[in-house]
Amino acid sequence: MTANPVAEPSPAKPDPNAQTVTSVRHWTDTLFSFRVTRPQSLRFRSGEFVMIGLPGDNGKPIMRAYSIASPNWDEELEFYSIKVPDGPLTSRLQNIQPGDQIILRPKPVGTLVHDALIPGKRVWFLATGTGLAPFASLMRDPETYDKFDEVIMMHTCRTAEELTYGRELVEALEADELIGEMVAGKLKYYPTTTREPSERMGRITDNLTSGKVFEDLGLEPMNPATDRAMVCGSLAFNQDVMKVLEGFGLNEGANSEPREYVVEKAFVGEGV
Ligand SMILES: Cc1cc2nc3c(=O)[nH]c(=O)nc-3n(C[C@H](O)[C@H](O)[C@H](O)COP(=O)(O)OP(=O)(O)OC[C@H]3O[C@@H](n4cnc5c(N)ncnc54)[C@H](O)[C@@H]3O)c2cc1C
Ligand SMILES: NC(=O)c1ccc[n+]([C@@H]2O[C@H](COP(=O)([O-])OP(=O)(O)OC[C@H]3O[C@@H](n4cnc5c(N)ncnc54)[C@H](OP(=O)(O)O)[C@@H]3O)[C@@H](O)[C@H]2O)c1
Repeated sequence: MTANPVAEPSPAKPDPNAQTVTSVRHWTDTLFSFRVTRPQSLRFRSGEFVMIGLPGDNGKPIMRAYSIASPNWDEELEFYSIKVPDGPLTSRLQNIQPGDQIILRPKPVGTLVHDALIPGKRVWFLATGTGLAPFASLMRDPETYDKFDEVIMMHTCRTAEELTYGRELVEALEADELIGEMVAGKLKYYPTTTREPSERMGRITDNLTSGKVFEDLGLEPMNPATDRAMVCGSLAFNQDVMKVLEGFGLNEGANSEPREYVVEKAFVGEGV
């Protein structure tokens, strides 16, 4: 009698969408950034997002939307991430190390792209928390400075520590040999905190409606003839800032119908 052949466990197939982590930096207890290899065939517009993830315990990958924080000319891809304590993905993703692999589906999409705005003189990048990520890409893209005379980056977090990734990015950009000259005089960075005293404080919505930001930066108030805006934050922030932008006479656009401003959610859900 011949024994039943026992099926050998099939070796795990390498995921065709696997990318290798090249560096990781932790900014706070709840924020980190990391870089991965870029698939050779991946083309994207600065400001777009992709699905990234890790293999799940049941073999089904856990995938989430992530804005690409690096500009489209970069050889690698950078991401800026929250750490949600019990989050299915980020409770594990926060432990990645250089040499580890993540899954990246190379199908970039999104509305925070230059193509979705009509031409203008000034562009306002309005972000809360990790909503900075798409602007980390757009601020490093020369197209932004070709298209606009002034680029105003408003970023608001609860604490000063949470602003560090953005602050260091802007400082590096200003010091950069290639793009520094292009950025000089055009990029106006306006970081604020809301729950910790700092040099500049207040919600983006309040600083726009009160006119404080225009006063501080010596700028004319927003005007639909000259100003364009891109928004990325929590649902509540997006909804409130859209009302402010509409109040200045700006209208929402999309890839299919470019207008004066565009919006994307930084995350889905009510709170960590
Ligand atoms: C278009 C788009 C782009 C995104 N880009 C990014 C990005 O660049 N960086 C990033 O960290 N996340 C981004 N997210 C959120 C991301 O998809 C995941 O939700 C996040 O990685 C947490 O995954 P999780 O499985 O650990 O927890 P989830 O189950 O996905 O989330 C649990 C809860 O945590 C809160 N939460 C999730 N993400 C955030 C966040 N970023 N900031 C504050 N609270 C949050 C929400 O309340 C959510 O209900 C994006 C989401 C969308 C829709
Ligand atoms: N327990 C904690 O210590 C702790 C710390 C950080 C985050 N969290 C949780 O994590 C989740 C995400 O936190 P987060 O700090 O990334 O995002 P967040 O709560 O959306 O706050 C980010 C920034 O956006 C501002 N903001 C929020 N809603 C706004 C609105 N409608 N209009 C204008 N500005 C607005 C906040 O100002 P305000 O400060 O004025 O709200 C804050 O400066 C939150 O739901 C929170 O519960 C908890």
